[in-house]
Amino acid sequence: MSTPLLQTKDLQLAFGAVVVADHIDFSLAEGERLAVIGQNGAGKTTFINICTGLIRPQAGKVYFEGHDVTNLAPRAIALRGMVRSFQLPQLFAEHTVRDCIRIAAAGKQGGLGLWTPLEKAVPAEAVEHVLEMVGLAARGDELSAALPEGQRKLLDIAMALILKPRLLILDEPTSGVSTDEKHGLMKTIMAALDEQKVTAIFVEHDVDIVSQYATRVAAWIAGRIAADGTPAQVLADPEVRKNVIGE
Ligand SMILES: Nc1ncnc2c1ncn2[C@@H]1O[C@H](COP(=O)(O)OP(=O)(O)OP(=O)(O)O)[C@@H](O)[C@H]1O
Ligand SMILES: [Mg+2]
Repeated sequence: MSTPLLQTKDLQLAFGAVVVADHIDFSLAEGERLAVIGQNGAGKTTFINICTGLIRPQAGKVYFEGHDVTNLAPRAIALRGMVRSFQLPQLFAEHTVRDCIRIAAAGKQGGLGLWTPLEKAVPAEAVEHVLEMVGLAARGDELSAALPEGQRKLLDIAMALILKPRLLILDEPTSGVSTDEKHGLMKTIMAALDEQKVTAIFVEHDVDIVSQYATRVAAWIAGRIAADGTPAQVLADPEVRKNVIGE
């Protein structure tokens, strides 16, 4: 069997009496499109935070491509190819869309030299290419703060894609976006992931989006993975229907 792209072994974390990671054993293969579902507070974001080095688990390990990354800093993990986006996009508000991508890319190269202009620090073709992939080519000169939420989400993802990740973890890419816009947003994201051959995990509350775009679903209940399988299997699971979907 080939090495999993991402693997966790017996992750444990509690905030006081609240258990947010309850012995999580998890494995993800290259090419998967995993949806993570679960009610508010189930521990979805915490799981992402642990995998990407933002929070240390109290016990357990995280492996990326077979290497133990449990105690690495977020930046070191991103450099290895595990990159995430945030539930609320983390943009550089006073900068243009194009500069946000340049700044994200420059971070990977070890930061900006004091005397290097931003537009020279990062290859222009690479910047334009990610802008095109997420459909923001026409808005490159606008301030990121001026974008509507759906495009802010796409910019956040473009800032992740410029880092050429192997695994992209998206924390609620469609939150804050109208139901009508969600499918367009997901189609754009999925096409970009396909083009760059990026494996992906995305947290999502909308069951329609999950069934349509995920190849696999993992359901979180109170810090543990209560069900893990195909969308059809997991969305039909009685415990998931009762505690996650809320029927
Ligand atoms: N740094 C922290 N200190 C204390 N408690 C925290 C911290 N981070 C998260 N929590 C708590 O841990 C639990 C899990 O939070 P988490 O953000 O992982 O949930 P989630 O599944 O992502 O929920 P949502 O769907 O609302 O985003 C919640 O009860 C939250 O209040
Ligand atoms: Mg969350």
